[in-house]
Amino acid sequence: MTRPITLLSTLLVATSSLLPLSVGKWIVPGGRWYDTDGNILNAHAGGITVGPNGTFWLFGEYKTQEATEGGGVSVYSSPDLATWTSHGIALEPVEGHEYISPDNIIQRPKVVYSDKLEEYHMLWHADNSSYRLLLQGLGTSKSIEGPYEFASATAPLGNWSQDFGLFTDMRDGRSYALYSNGDSVEGRDVYIGELNENKTEVSEVTFRFDKFDLEAPCIIQTDRSYYALMSHKTGYRPNNVVAFRADRLEGPWSQPFFVAERNTRTYNSQSGFALRINGTKTTTYLYLGDQWDSNSLWESRYIWLPMKIDDRGGELELEWHDIYDLDVHTGEVSPVKGTTYYALNAKTEGDAWKQEANFASGNQIVTGIYGNDSTVVFSGIKGEGKEQWISFYYENADDMGFGDQPGGSPDRIGGSWQLRRISSVVVNGGKDQEDGMDTLYERDTHKGILLSTPLKVFLDKGRDNVIEIGGCDNGFDVKGADLDRIVVYAAED
Ligand SMILES: *[C@@H]1O[C@H](CO)[C@@H](O)[C@H](O)[C@H]1NC(C)=O
Ligand SMILES: *[C@@H]1O[C@H](CO)[C@@H](O)[C@H](O)[C@H]1NC(C)=O
Ligand SMILES: *[C@@H]1O[C@H](CO)[C@@H](O)[C@H](O)[C@H]1NC(C)=O
Ligand SMILES: *[C@@H]1O[C@H](CO)[C@@H](O)[C@H](O)[C@H]1NC(C)=O
Ligand SMILES: *[C@@H]1O[C@H](CO)[C@@H](O)[C@H](O)[C@H]1NC(C)=O
Ligand SMILES: *[C@@H]1O[C@H](CO)[C@@H](O)[C@H](O)[C@H]1NC(C)=O
Repeated sequence: MTRPITLLSTLLVATSSLLPLSVGKWIVPGGRWYDTDGNILNAHAGGITVGPNGTFWLFGEYKTQEATEGGGVSVYSSPDLATWTSHGIALEPVEGHEYISPDNIIQRPKVVYSDKLEEYHMLWHADNSSYRLLLQGLGTSKSIEGPYEFASATAPLGNWSQDFGLFTDMRDGRSYALYSNGDSVEGRDVYIGELNENKTEVSEVTFRFDKFDLEAPCIIQTDRSYYALMSHKTGYRPNNVVAFRADRLEGPWSQPFFVAERNTRTYNSQSGFALRINGTKTTTYLYLGDQWDSNSLWESRYIWLPMKIDDRGGELELEWHDIYDLDVHTGEVSPVKGTTYYALNAKTEGDAWKQEANFASGNQIVTGIYGNDSTVVFSGIKGEGKEQWISFYYENADDMGFGDQPGGSPDRIGGSWQLRRISSVVVNGGKDQEDGMDTLYERDTHKGILLSTPLKVFLDKGRDNVIEIGGCDNGFDVKGADLDRIVVYAAED
C-alpha cells in the first residue's frame, strides 16, 4: 500500500448504524460483516491460513477509528469462510518497540507453518510511519492463533520490501514472499522471493516483475498454472487489478491482463490474497480483495469473489455475485437468487426524477436523489419478518480524483476529491432501524457503470414493506447515487 493520502476533508456521518446484526452463512461482498460477538470484522489486507483440522484462520490489520495503523494483527477462525469467531489480537503492538510499536506500520500480515521449526510464522510489511524502513517482519508462535512473538525485521537480500504477500506451492510446500520494492525510481518492481527452509526470511530471488510499478501481490495456483494478481498504485482508491500467468514461478510470465469487467475498478477492490479450495466436487479459486474506504479506513469492507480460470486460454476473471453460498466441503459456489424491484416502477418525490440512461434497466435511472425530501420510494416489497439483505444497483459518476493533488485524476481536472456518495435507506418509516435509517455507501462507479452494494435490514412479513432512499452528507454534498434497481434476498436462516 502506498502511503495514505491526506484528505482535503474528512467525514462526517454517524457510525451508530452499525447494529450488531445476525452472523451470516453466506458471503456478501461489500457488506458490513460481523463476527460471532456482533463486532464488525476487523482484519484488513490479510491472509487466510488453513489450520491442521481444516479450520480457516484469518489474519489482518486491526484498525480503529482512532488508530488506522499500528493496531497490530487480529485473528479470526471459521469453519466455512462466512462465520467468523474473533480470537483477539495475534500480534500485539509493543509500546516503544523499534518495529511493532503503535507508531509503526504493521501491514499485510500472512501466516505459514514452518515444518522445520514446528511453529507458525507470521510475516508482514514492517515499517515506520514515513515508509522508509521497508522491511519484512517475522513473528513466531507454537499455536496458530498466537500470540505471536516478534522475532526480526529484515531487508530481503538487502533490498526494500513494501506490500507483502505470501504464497505456498502445493506441489512441494515451498513458500515465497511476494513484495513490491517501494515507490522510488530505483524500486517499482514486484519480487517473488523464495523463503529459506525454516521459512524465516527470503533466501533467493525467484522472479522479478520489472518496473511495472504494481503492488498488493498474491498468487493462486491451478493444476497447471500460477496466476500472480496485483494492483496499480493509486493509494486507497481502487483500480483495475491485473494478473500474469506462468507454468513456473521462475517464468516466463505472460503479459498482464485485467481480472474484472473493465471500468469497475475490480468491483471497487484491491487484490491482497487468494485461496484455493479443494472441494470434493470442484476446486474453487477465491479472490480476497479489500474495499478500502479512505474516508474511514477502519470501516473498509471486503470483496471476496470466486475466480473463473481457463488455463488453456490463460484466462482468469472474477465472477460478481451480490450474495453466494460457498460450500467449503464440496467446493461449490451457489449464487443466491433474489427478487428485483426496478426504480423505473418506483415513485419519486421532490426533485428526484427518471432520466434516460441506455445502460440502465428499461433505459431509465432515477437521478436527483438528494437530502431527505428528494427520494425514490419502493413499495409493495415482500418480506419474511426477518433481517434480509438488499442489493442496491446504482451509478455514481463523480469520477473520483485528486483535484489539486499530485497524481491527478484519470477522469477529471479540478473538482473535489470524492470517493463515495451516501444514501439514507429508510425501511417502513425507520421503525426498526437505529436512528430511523441506515446508511448506504455508494462508491464511484465510472460513467455508465452500474454496481451494487448491499445492506441488511429488517423487513416485515408480507407484501407491504416500503423502502425510501434519499441522500446523506458525505462531506461534500447530500446527494445519493443514481439508482437503477434493488434486489431483495431471502433471509439466511
Ligand atoms: C479445530 O481446532 C480449533 C482450535 O485449534 C477448534 O476451535 C475447532 O473446534 C476445531 N474444529 C474441528 C472441526 O475439530
Ligand atoms: C523512518 O526511518 C527513516 C530511515 O531510518 C528515517 O529517516 C525517518 O526519519 C523515520 N521516520 C520516522 C517517522 O521515524
Ligand atoms: C535489489 O533491487 C534492485 C532493484 O530492483 C535490483 O536491481 C537488484 O538486483 C536487487 N538485488 C537483489 C539481491 O535482489
Ligand atoms: C488444497 O490442496 C493443496 C495440495 O494438497 C494444499 O496445499 C492446500 O493447502 C489445499 N487448500 C486448502 C484450502 O485446504
Ligand atoms: C534453521 O533453523 C535451525 C534451528 O534454529 C538452524 O540451525 C538453521 O541454521 C536454520 N537454517 C536457516 C537456513 O536459517
Ligand atoms: C431532513 O433534512 C433536513 C435538512 O438537511 C434536516 O434538518 C432534518 O433533520 C432531516 N430530517 C430527518 C428526519 O432526517
